[in-house]
Amino acid sequence: MNKKILITGGTGYIGSHTIVQLIENGYDVISIDNYINSSDKPLKSIEAITKKSIPNYVVDLCERDAVDEVFQQHRDIVGVIHFAALKAVGESVEKPLLYYRNNITGLINLLELCRKYQIANFIFSSSCSVYGNVDSLPVTEDTPISQAESPYAHTKQIGEDIVRNALKGTGIHSILLRYFNPSGAHPSGLMGESPIVPAHNLVPVITELAAGIRTELTVFGTDYDTRDGSCIRDYIHVVDLANAHVKAMDFMMAGQQKQDTEVFNLGIGQGVSVLEAIAAFEEISNIKLNITLGPRREGDVIAVYADYSKAKQELGWVPQYSIQDIMKTAWAWQQKRVDNHPLT
Ligand code: WQD
Repeated sequence: MNKKILITGGTGYIGSHTIVQLIENGYDVISIDNYINSSDKPLKSIEAITKKSIPNYVVDLCERDAVDEVFQQHRDIVGVIHFAALKAVGESVEKPLLYYRNNITGLINLLELCRKYQIANFIFSSSCSVYGNVDSLPVTEDTPISQAESPYAHTKQIGEDIVRNALKGTGIHSILLRYFNPSGAHPSGLMGESPIVPAHNLVPVITELAAGIRTELTVFGTDYDTRDGSCIRDYIHVVDLANAHVKAMDFMMAGQQKQDTEVFNLGIGQGVSVLEAIAAFEEISNIKLNITLGPRREGDVIAVYADYSKAKQELGWVPQYSIQDIMKTAWAWQQKRVDNHPLT
């Protein structure tokens, strides 16, 4: 019997790509997703890629009793990966209580049910934004946590502490995965980032500009103390990220985890500036982008990129995709989206 994993947020960008990799590595998967920031389209893409139809329960994690019913129907769940959360930094500044209610209440309900049903393995989707602005680079898991730059980042800092404290001494192992900048699309071209609102992250903004469904791209600040004046980030391909979740689940399933909670950075250790990312896209697409050099964006950190050696040594995880691969796959997906799935 394959081991069954519950994915929350299974029709989201990272959740859907992780379901594909879990299936391809022998796991069975069920999903809970209320489509607040997605649709059922990724379920069709997952089926096209894996030939497996994944059940998705359209349930709000804030409705505890409804979530309990899913656990009652699936007493053979052996692991949970919790992706479902609101994640737009700017929106979290405008609507902080929406973010605290949705991201924290959903997590608390899920943890109560993991304890009730003794689900032995729990993975929490965290973010490099828990580090805030850092003094030294690359960032390791021991880099001090500093003031969160947004309510979204704060929900991730609080979420990590809730996971640690709620599961301590319960026999339930947990892993906190701190993502850097997830980007790119599935190499099949059948799945990718499918924002139901106009994108705000750099890579989809670039591809929307190239596809002509947006008319401008502003570089938010070129006067930073970096090699070319623009901000530096660690762009990690979504399939590399998905594979890291499989490695983390394998690690726990194999009984290799000694601590109650482990933390891993998931970035590729390459700092890439905004202008370098734009140049990488122009190189792979042979398209010259019409960009505007504008003022800084509130809340941006100047530079952040990962030291992923802990994930490499303990999980055996090694990223495979480059910034060029990110741009190639993102562009291929965007062109499909313009043809078949116009942004609404
Ligand atoms: C990257 C760089 C922008 C758009 C966010 C979340 C973080 C994580 C990853 C979940 C910045 C610049 C962007 C544009 C630009 N999410 N930019 N013009 O803010 O690094 O991180 O996604 O885990 O928590 O905060 O990503 O893609 O928005 O920005 O110049 O039109 O691109 O200023 O320097 P960010 P981003």
